[in-house]
Formats: sequence, structure tokens, C-alpha cells
Amino acid sequence: MTLTSDDYFSLPADLHPQALPAHVAVIMDGNGRWATRQGLPRVAGHRQGAKTVKDLLRCCNDWGIGALTVYAFSTENWRRPMEEVNFLMRLFDRLLRRELAEMQQEGVRIQFLGDLSPLPERLRSLMAEAMALTRPNQRVQFNVAVNYGGREELVNAARNLAHQVMSGTISLDGIDEAALGRALLTEGLSDPDLLIRTSGEQRLSNFLPWQLAYTELYFTDQLWPEFDRAAFHQALHWYQSRQRRFGGLARSPIAHGF
Ligand code: FPP
Repeated sequence: MTLTSDDYFSLPADLHPQALPAHVAVIMDGNGRWATRQGLPRVAGHRQGAKTVKDLLRCCNDWGIGALTVYAFSTENWRRPMEEVNFLMRLFDRLLRRELAEMQQEGVRIQFLGDLSPLPERLRSLMAEAMALTRPNQRVQFNVAVNYGGREELVNAARNLAHQVMSGTISLDGIDEAALGRALLTEGLSDPDLLIRTSGEQRLSNFLPWQLAYTELYFTDQLWPEFDRAAFHQALHWYQSRQRRFGGLARSPIAHGF
């Protein structure tokens, strides 16, 4: 496909359209601290954080970035106070209801990654409806990790492959990286090229441990609710300055367009 400048309407001039990450993953950290600094309850940080996600998704759409994966709720987040967990569940519910039509209009395909079974029934059916409705969309793939844990994902993949060997669907030698990749929740998605984590923490926190093996990791002190278009621009600029080697010789995203 030939790309024209119209495809990248509003892409900042110092970013190379051919060297953008195809898939960006984000650990949205610092909502609580942002709220506390403003003298607000923690949940106000999540509400503001939701606006940031919406802006980032729109930005990916505008700039031609095909996939965005965000860590919205980890398997460990159930340990938070009940009121905060309930608030987050209600926020996901409200956002889906409010934003679904617009996402559909903008060609966004939404997918939820994680064990959705413990979530409230109403939210689960809303999620299933949103996934089914937006499945044909191709402009941006928006993955929301909810009740997601990377190690659990790998354990389930191992179990799945063991079943396949036991039932004779594949041989033991058939277990390779591609087979394991197909047994993950991210089946069919390319691995993230860029991971962004806000709030100064520098760890993966059980987020996509397999998929992030070769990903460029970008850490910023900004808190998630402050992570605006300018901050994303800066992260992309940093990404384009990196040399991606994948264990081989130096290749920069700009020279090679990946
Ligand atoms: C981490 O900040 C944030 C979360 C656990 C929740 C993220 C959820 C949203 C931004 C809501 C909307 C998202 C979608 C995709 C619908 P923290 O609370 O751990 O912050 P802290 O470290 O400062 O306490």
C-alpha cells in the first residue's frame, strides 16, 4: 500500500510515517498519585485517566498506528479497596456504553484480553457485544487488558499445548514459538514495538511478558492523566531514535520502516 500525506493528517513533521511503531502497549500508571496531588479522591484519577486513553486512541487513529494495547486492570488489582474496584468496573461499563458508537464510526476494533469470568455479568455481556460489533473494523485494533496476568496467560498456554499433544492434534516437536504464540490471548496480533509506562516505575508488572521480549521500553515520570498528545509525540520521537537489533546488527526504525 502506498502511503500519502493525507493518511497521516496531523502527524508531527519530525516523525517519520514509515517508521512508526505498528503496535504500542501502555502501562497506565499514576492515576491515584495524580488525584492525590490535586487534592481529589483516587477514583478521580481513573476518570481523568480514561480521558487520556480516549485521546491516545484517537491519536493512534490520526497518526496511522494500527494497534494500541492498554493495561486497564491486572489480576493483582482485585487487592485494592472494594470501592475502588467497583468504581473501575462501573467506569469500564460507562465508557463502553458511551464510546462504542464513536469507536464503531472511527473503525476501531476492540478486544478484551484476560479472564473476564469474574467480572459483573452486565459488563461481560457489554464487552462481548462490543467485541462482536467491532470485529470487522480494521483501522485501529484497541486491546484492553482486564483481569490480565502474564504468567497466568503463559500457564494457560502451556496447558492448552499439553492438551493438544495428549489428544494428538500436534506432536511434541510441534511446540515451537509460533505454536506458543497462537496459544496466547494475543493470538493473531503482532508483538508491541513500543511499551510506554508512566509515573516513573520501571518494571513490567506481569504485563505481556512473552510479547514484550524485543519491545523498546519507554519510561516517563509523567503520571498517566498528564500523558497527552505532546507526551506521546515525545515517546514516538524517542522510539524513532532507537536502533532495533533483534540480536543482529544495528537497524534503526527510520532506515528500515518498522
Ligand atoms: C494505575 O494507576 C491505573 C489503573 C489500575 C487503572 C487504569 C484504568 C483506567 C485509566 C480507566 C479507563 C481505562 C480503559 C481502557 C477503559 P494507579 O491507580 O495504580 O496509580 P498510583 O500508582 O498513583 O496509585
